[in-house]
Amino acid sequence: MSVFDLISSRRSIRKFKADPIPKESLLRIFQAGILAPSGNNRQTWKFYVVQGDKRAEMVERLNEGLANRVKDGEDVAGAKHSFDVMAQAPVTVFIFRPNRTKPWLAGSQCQHFSDVVDVQSVGACIQNMLLMAEEMGIGSLWICDVFSAYQEISDWLGESTEMIAAVSFGIADEHPAARKRKSIDEVVHWL
Ligand SMILES: Cc1cc2nc3c(=O)[nH]c(=O)nc-3n(C[C@H](O)[C@H](O)[C@H](O)COP(=O)(O)O)c2cc1C
Repeated sequence: MSVFDLISSRRSIRKFKADPIPKESLLRIFQAGILAPSGNNRQTWKFYVVQGDKRAEMVERLNEGLANRVKDGEDVAGAKHSFDVMAQAPVTVFIFRPNRTKPWLAGSQCQHFSDVVDVQSVGACIQNMLLMAEEMGIGSLWICDVFSAYQEISDWLGESTEMIAAVSFGIADEHPAARKRKSIDEVVHWL
């Protein structure tokens, strides 16, 4: 499959089969992730893999996060849907940025730019993993709703650096149509 075909065929998957994902497949996905370009080759990523029995503990912490956000008066409908997907997926990977402690707020413009660089790098890493998974017939969902359980998940993992996202992987049990994209004319400005 050409890279363009692979990119075109990928979808966000929100319904997974229960089949576990073999460790070799996950290793290949991580290998693709860590081959991503990164600002100054800093490779600011760190992964926690949740599968098997650990999923129940994760779901407990996600639900605890939702309950706490409801107490804070937040609307958690979207996050609840994402957490339901995570509960069903055989594998979820949490991605942290180990060179920043949480909660991180840039103290200067210079730090902010450095943060922007590093977060872009993590995004490239995640996209590589999604595409690698797609090539192997493994579906994925990139999840930032996980911020609704940011503290609860960080405490559970014992991780004090900045969480960037989670990604769930599994064999797709749905075949969603392509989501609409803006046209090239809308987003590209030729000078
Ligand atoms: C940074 C980022 C965060 C996302 N967070 C979520 C999320 O929390 N929950 C969810 O269901 N989808 C999430 N998505 C998936 C998007 O909704 C999806 O990529 C978009 O609707 C386009 O659909 P497609 O991936 O099938 O092309 C996220 C995607 C990105 C890139």
